[in-house]
Amino acid sequence: MIRPETLGDHAAIHEVNRLAFGEEGEARLIAALRDGGYVRVSLVAEEAGRVVGHILFSDLSIVTPQGVVEALSLAPLAVVPDCQRQGIGSALVREGLRACTEAGHRIVLVVGHPEFYPRFDFTAQSAERLLSPYAGPAFMALELAPGALEGVEGEVRYPPPFGDL
Ligand SMILES: CC(C)(COP(=O)(O)OP(=O)(O)OC[C@H]1O[C@@H](n2cnc3c(N)ncnc32)[C@H](O)[C@@H]1OP(=O)(O)O)[C@@H](O)C(=O)NCCC(=O)NCCS
Repeated sequence: MIRPETLGDHAAIHEVNRLAFGEEGEARLIAALRDGGYVRVSLVAEEAGRVVGHILFSDLSIVTPQGVVEALSLAPLAVVPDCQRQGIGSALVREGLRACTEAGHRIVLVVGHPEFYPRFDFTAQSAERLLSPYAGPAFMALELAPGALEGVEGEVRYPPPFGDL
């Protein structure tokens, strides 16, 4: 079952991310993004009452000569090691993108496995005109609203908590 996070999930989300990444950095990032008010969509995957996966989307700005274009950052995505490769991560991405679209968001950027995200239509090509500290093949973009990235050329600004990761 995939559902929005509740207050009671915070500890479980911390643990899912700690186990998936083998360190606390991502779990701390999530807490800092929450504290800073940057979180837009946060979903958990629950199996038999246990939180086994989590996905977060937070605010991001693209600063262009024409003004600031608002976007979302997909990060982090985590599934506990004993539940990986069963489709849970993909289900979280699909549900997450649906929730972001429903909420009216238009652009999502991700830094992630280049073999994983293209299956959800993220491409490195569509992120080519965006200057980012994470630029490279792992840096990908997706338009939730067709044409949302057309003519958008500028610098990606992550909120401060990303600087501490
Ligand atoms: C990446 C992750 C979220 C995928 O979750 P999942 O539930 O295993 O994903 P799914 O079962 O839906 O899809 C599996 C696909 O994920 C991809 N994948 C999983 N781990 C991967 C890795 N370490 N490197 C590259 N691709 C990976 C594979 O392409 C795999 O496809 P395949 O089974 O056809 O080979 C999960 O493996 C995880 O939490 N990993 C550790 C943390 C992490 O790297 N997070 C992502 C940051 S971008």
